[in-house]
Amino acid sequence: MISKSTQVIQFYLDDELIQIPMENQQETLLDFIRLKKNNKSVKEGCGEGDCGACMVLQAESKDGRLVYKPINSCIKFVPTLHKRSIYTAKYISASLEELHPVQEALVASHGSQCGFCTPGFVISLLAYYLENESKNTNESEIISAISGNLCRCTGYRPIIEAGIQMNNLDEPSRFSRQDAYSEHRLQQQINLELQPDLVTETFIAPSDLDTFANIYAANPEYQILAGATDVGLWVTQHLKQLKTLLFIGQVKELQVINEDSQFIWIGAGINLEAAYEKIVQHYPDLKELHQRFASLPIRQSGTLCGNVANGSPIGDSMPILIALNTLIVLRQGQSTREMNLEDFYLGYQKKNLLPGEFVEAVKIPLPTKNDRIASYKVSKRYEQDISAICFGAKLNLENDHIQSIRIAFGGMAAIPKRAIELEKFLTKKPWTQAVILEATEIIDQDFQPLTDLRATASYRSQVAKNLFIRFYNEVNQTGLSLNDFSPIISESLANE
Ligand SMILES: Cc1cc2nc3c(=O)[nH]c(=O)nc-3n(C[C@H](O)[C@H](O)[C@H](O)COP(=O)(O)OP(=O)(O)OC[C@H]3O[C@@H](n4cnc5c(N)ncnc54)[C@H](O)[C@@H]3O)c2cc1C
Ligand code: FES
Ligand code: FES
Repeated sequence: MISKSTQVIQFYLDDELIQIPMENQQETLLDFIRLKKNNKSVKEGCGEGDCGACMVLQAESKDGRLVYKPINSCIKFVPTLHKRSIYTAKYISASLEELHPVQEALVASHGSQCGFCTPGFVISLLAYYLENESKNTNESEIISAISGNLCRCTGYRPIIEAGIQMNNLDEPSRFSRQDAYSEHRLQQQINLELQPDLVTETFIAPSDLDTFANIYAANPEYQILAGATDVGLWVTQHLKQLKTLLFIGQVKELQVINEDSQFIWIGAGINLEAAYEKIVQHYPDLKELHQRFASLPIRQSGTLCGNVANGSPIGDSMPILIALNTLIVLRQGQSTREMNLEDFYLGYQKKNLLPGEFVEAVKIPLPTKNDRIASYKVSKRYEQDISAICFGAKLNLENDHIQSIRIAFGGMAAIPKRAIELEKFLTKKPWTQAVILEATEIIDQDFQPLTDLRATASYRSQVAKNLFIRFYNEVNQTGLSLNDFSPIISESLANE
């Protein structure tokens, strides 16, 4: 068990040191701020990480520097903030007479009407402001910074304009870059992080891996918690009462991301944003998947291993990770083992895990010569939406013949799954339009998808074929359209 521990949750909220005993391990930060601290600048909209009305700024130290990120307080449990600092939109200006440039720019650009969404936008823009000094702000960066915020009256143009203008205004006294990254704030944060680990009956946050692994091996009924971007919704949307939570977020050895000559290693504590940044360095074709995975704040909280471990059939990472032949590193107590990611999924919500075993990391193979890869996501909204269907493929061509191909889909079965029959059919065949056309029909042998609120079965089958054809077109840069492939495809498209 942990040698030095505390039962008191300690964090800073707007520079006030909060020290509270554990009452309810699943109390959200939003409820704490609004109901217990009576700070109504933080709003509740959706309660599921979607709208950004509840956004607050979180600080922690990393490699001797402060790191700020926006987080959705509606799905953050209070004990996960032990050793962290939180700031709300109300606090970031020293007074009403001296607004922060982010706020001033929003006022000047008419970026706030009903104002309900405004504190959330302020926080997202502030996080961007702190990290970027450039006066030539790129519009697409602002769009990415506010990807987790919805506004339903102003429209985004004035808000984006505010993001572009804020760097032209004078630095404020509070939360200027100088203040945010000052020695004083850094030392305050480091002192907080030196506090003992939080260990209570209902929430345990070890800081070392051996302790974490031993506790879980001895108590497999505990609920592992990482970024809470799935688990948070079990509480706020499904009103679930959770068991004892075993928190990954403080385990130092799980915050590791590195590579050797064969693999990228992504530890269980690494958030999706950091993981995808690394993956895209090696696989630039996955840039769009990276940008379309949820929103920046969700990606900065949720973990890649949480996505994989949760194993939703419509999770976005799994199709391409399976296509890339990713390995999953599992740990139970002091033992570890590795398996192919595709073997991890046994059935709907059923994983190949022993009691007390958890995901320590994923190992993604580095690209090899002649590999062509792609992942396409089909969802109703461009950002911040769950897929109806997701496609991942890796192709190795030699002299226009398919040496090997791996294709996996999300949203087509109860688990993320490889298209084994399709792969078998294609292997060693010429990579031609005629072969591709014949192959599309094989997809029906691999999958009999379901109808649900995201898509009908026939839509899913059709889109799966279309995505495969898109892959062919992109690899060959054919410039062909779907209609060039088959009268059957165009006919069924017309009927959808
Ligand atoms: C607004 C919003 C948008 C989203 N958009 C997308 C999207 O576009 N695409 C997508 O795929 N997902 C999306 N998600 C879902 C979610 O963000 C991802 O599944 C995320 O990767 C989950 O990671 P987490 O760290 O938050 O996991 P948590 O919520 O902490 O945990 C999820 C599950 O995995 C288990 N778990 C976590 N880590 C481990 C581990 N190391 N070992 C064993 N078990 C573990 C937990 O016990 C739990 O059962 C979205 C969620 C929200 C709220
Ligand atoms: S209230 Fe909508 S994201 Fe939190
Ligand atoms: S100003 Fe009304 S929702 Fe944004």
